Amino acid sequence: MADQFAASMASVEPGSVPSLRWEERPEGPVLVVLDQRRLPAEEVQLVCTDVPALVDAIRTLAVRGAPLLGIAGAYGVALAAVRGFDVAESAELLAHARPTAVNLAYGVQRARAAYEKALRDRLGPGQAAAATLAEARALHREDAEASARMAEHGLGLLAELVPGGGFRVLTHCNTGALVSGGEGTAFAVAGAAHRAGRLRRLWVDETRPLLQGARLTAYEAARAGMAYTLLTDNAAGSLFASGEVDAVLIGADRIAADGSVANKVGSYPLAVLARYHHVPFVVVAPVSTVDLATATGSAIEVEQRAGHEVTEFTVVPPGAGAEPGTGVPVAPLGAQAYNPAFDVTPPELVTAIVTENGVVSPVTRAGLAELCAGPQQG
Ligand code: MRU
Repeated sequence: MADQFAASMASVEPGSVPSLRWEERPEGPVLVVLDQRRLPAEEVQLVCTDVPALVDAIRTLAVRGAPLLGIAGAYGVALAAVRGFDVAESAELLAHARPTAVNLAYGVQRARAAYEKALRDRLGPGQAAAATLAEARALHREDAEASARMAEHGLGLLAELVPGGGFRVLTHCNTGALVSGGEGTAFAVAGAAHRAGRLRRLWVDETRPLLQGARLTAYEAARAGMAYTLLTDNAAGSLFASGEVDAVLIGADRIAADGSVANKVGSYPLAVLARYHHVPFVVVAPVSTVDLATATGSAIEVEQRAGHEVTEFTVVPPGAGAEPGTGVPVAPLGAQAYNPAFDVTPPELVTAIVTENGVVSPVTRAGLAELCAGPQQG
């Protein structure tokens, strides 16, 4: 394992914002990721030449969002294999970089299994590395395809759930192309509605404390030419009360076998509000986000993040790369902060879960398991 921190920065050419790509360079292959901590102010790439650099990018949220974490994890294992680092050790490091999004461990495991199978088949290290990279590329492609199918299923569901002309959709966190091989999950549905001329408004929760909504979703909505409005998370209640929300669309980091949904902190209060105001609460996520091995929501490990993300403000969001003590304090010195990155919404508050295989509604353990087994017919 190389011990140097091997990331460097270069400007992104204007107009092109790839969230992640594999690049063959004369000095060896690299994984190039868009540094999401710097958006929307700057489009900057981070070049990872080894696994510790990628793990650091994941922990500090340069690379984030469930599907992208899976893709990054798979390419990370490929990077280790191709560059001759210890694949098992690299896979462990990557799989544990963040605990909640199951896609990360899924992507890592798929790439690692491809590598180990190649070795069992008595292929040499070069061919095993090539097989690992091919698996990462396959996962990347599959995610793009899943994204397109989720958009299609989600738009069909919205049309059923929301009678009349256009939809006013509230979303939380960031679920677009920045986190996916395609157009994302919940945001891809909003994008499909927009292209169909049916998105009246996208309400974008700023998503405290790291502002994934304000910095990233608003950035993607603006690039797509959507009619969007940003709101503070705690303005959502009055927005529901004034009848301005037709549906909530969010993504997920892990869906337990009972249909409990872990997603960015603040999702659960939206589900409660949606239920009170009789508004559909729809979760859009690929099947790779469903973890049938986790029986219930209470078994999902929720990542707890550093308190300084809450007690300080910085230009680069605190915790997203900034060191403690470098931001402007917004709380008394030494204040304790409760800072879970995610919360868990129970299945009874979820109107529907949309995957690439179809839609489950109402959300039941059996329905979810069936959906995971393969595409719905008809
Ligand atoms: O902490 P983050 O920014 O990685 O959290 C991301 C989310 O909670 C997203 O809503 C989730 O990963 C779904 S992305 C399609």
